[in-house]
Amino acid sequence: MKALILVGGFGTRLRPLTLSVPKPLVDFGNKPMILHQILASSGLSLLTMVLLQVMLNFLKDFEAKLGIKITCSQETEPLGTAGPLALARDKLVDESGEPFFVLNSDVISEYPLKEMIKFHKSHGGEASIMVTKVDEPSKYGVVVMEESTGQVERFVEKPKLFVGNKINAGIYLLSPSVLDRIELRPTSIEKEVFPKIAGEKKLYAMVLPGFWMDIGQPKDYITGLRLYLDSLRKKTSPMLASGTNIIGNVLVDETAKIGEGCLIGPDVAIGPGCVVESGVRLSRCTVMRGVRIKKHACISSSIIGWHSTVGQWARVENMTILGEDVHVGDEVYSNGGVVLPHKEIKSSILKPEIVM
Ligand code: GDD
Ligand code: MG
Repeated sequence: MKALILVGGFGTRLRPLTLSVPKPLVDFGNKPMILHQILASSGLSLLTMVLLQVMLNFLKDFEAKLGIKITCSQETEPLGTAGPLALARDKLVDESGEPFFVLNSDVISEYPLKEMIKFHKSHGGEASIMVTKVDEPSKYGVVVMEESTGQVERFVEKPKLFVGNKINAGIYLLSPSVLDRIELRPTSIEKEVFPKIAGEKKLYAMVLPGFWMDIGQPKDYITGLRLYLDSLRKKTSPMLASGTNIIGNVLVDETAKIGEGCLIGPDVAIGPGCVVESGVRLSRCTVMRGVRIKKHACISSSIIGWHSTVGQWARVENMTILGEDVHVGDEVYSNGGVVLPHKEIKSSILKPEIVM
């Protein structure tokens, strides 16, 4: 079976991290986001949309490692969320007439793909989508469905008025006939394709068992890490760290070095090659590859981009996002600073602001 991972857009909401790499390559839980989808789909034969050569090179390594085939279907102009399917048509369909998966690349969740295949076969419609409940549905595609059968009555992308709280989770299983509805031009699957299929009563939704989060924005990224680590805990994953200096759910890459007397957690990911000096306190944060955190620094609810340093006794908190290669001086305080790559921060950032 095949899967197409949608990669595109500009990732503006995840700046400054996306100033260094395309959004799908931003690390989440010590792995580039897109790798979570790729791992979930291994066992299927796989195909991906990529916009940049750097991603292609990165993904080629995983082909051999995971024993899957990854091909790229690169658009010359952004084709939205449906156009790329038309572009990749020949790669998605073959004589078997099997349905294929389509995955958004900025989502982190459980991927019960086998259950979804069963569901798709059982209802006999043209398309299946996963839905999940959220508190703020207006940012998403909202689905109104018949509870017992899953038949979708309405699909409304980013509704201004309240329609319901079940939203499109960005995981689809589509029969090849859906491709006959899509032309090779910029098209939104959510605005132009799903509402039509729903109108013909051929769109079905299944409620996603387990956690889900669109991690395309810093606040949601940090919440997403908590949910993801929680799901690893439920599976008693050996990836979670343990020890007297660890609180709750924490990932520490095996090449990271942690000093004496640190207190780490809950909900922390420390990437490869990081050095965390003695007496450091970390909670609800992501520390990406190659970061150094000096003695007695304290970081909470923040993302520290690749190869940055945080000075000794510094305090970094409240959705501070440091881009790649940012250097925060000793004893500096950052309250919600969003710092562009390659900057040096010598004085405190007292209220949330962008530092260019
Ligand atoms: N190839 C390609 N070309 N991919 C694109 C393009 C494009 O022009 N534009 C967006 N994408 C990819 C994004 O990389 C992402 O994986 C996916 O399509 C969805 O685009 P987003 O820009 O992240 O959309 P959204 O988050 O506002 O809304 C979508 O996701 C929600 C769930 O997170 C919609 O599908 C909503 O209905 C859904 O609820
Ligand atoms: Mg998104």
